[in-house]
Amino acid sequence: MKRESSQQIQLRKFKPSDLPQILKIEKDLFGVDAYNQTVILDGFKRAGEGFIVVQQEGKIVGYITGFIEPSRDFIDNLAVKENFQRKGLGKTLLDSLLKYFSQKGFKKVQLVVRENNLSAINFYEKNSFKKIKLLKNCYPDGGTGILMQLKTNE
Ligand SMILES: CC(C)(COP(=O)(O)OP(=O)(O)OC[C@H]1O[C@@H](n2cnc3c(N)ncnc32)[C@H](O)[C@@H]1OP(=O)(O)O)[C@@H](O)C(=O)NCCC(=O)NCCS
Repeated sequence: MKRESSQQIQLRKFKPSDLPQILKIEKDLFGVDAYNQTVILDGFKRAGEGFIVVQQEGKIVGYITGFIEPSRDFIDNLAVKENFQRKGLGKTLLDSLLKYFSQKGFKKVQLVVRENNLSAINFYEKNSFKKIKLLKNCYPDGGTGILMQLKTNE
């Protein structure tokens, strides 16, 4: 059964000493789109408690970063190490961030995903996000992004 894992996982807030592990995962998963050290640390300044990592056996295997903005909450980054994907860790991270957002009284949650990133689009749709807009020239290479949104009943 793919979802079951006997390994204990731990969720916690990001700390700057996590940087080397995060930068490696960024590079492996995002290639040219990978965030560098400055962007990750600026993200931490903006996100605070909204930068959550998941670790297994003391090693970081995934993370999510979310900002609280005046008119929306925004998911800026989500990644799960390749060998750890499709075991529910992405959902665990997302649920943890949504819980944090809801404690702060969120109305809608948005994010941008590359239009060819079908695994991530599937993931978000499975978690009730809807595509709401195409964003042309959204990436430095001219790639198109999709704005996705989750609305709560509140
Ligand atoms: C998107 C991502 C975070 C999902 O993490 P995850 O731990 O695999 O997600 P979960 O196990 O909680 O959910 C799995 C669901 O996501 C979708 N999904 C994940 N990987 C998929 C793939 N390769 N192909 C199709 N659907 C996929 C499916 O709906 C899947 O459900 P299923 O296994 O029942 O078919 C992960 O794939 C990832 O890190 N991708 C690379 C980085 C990235 O693109 N991040 C998003 C940037 S916006």
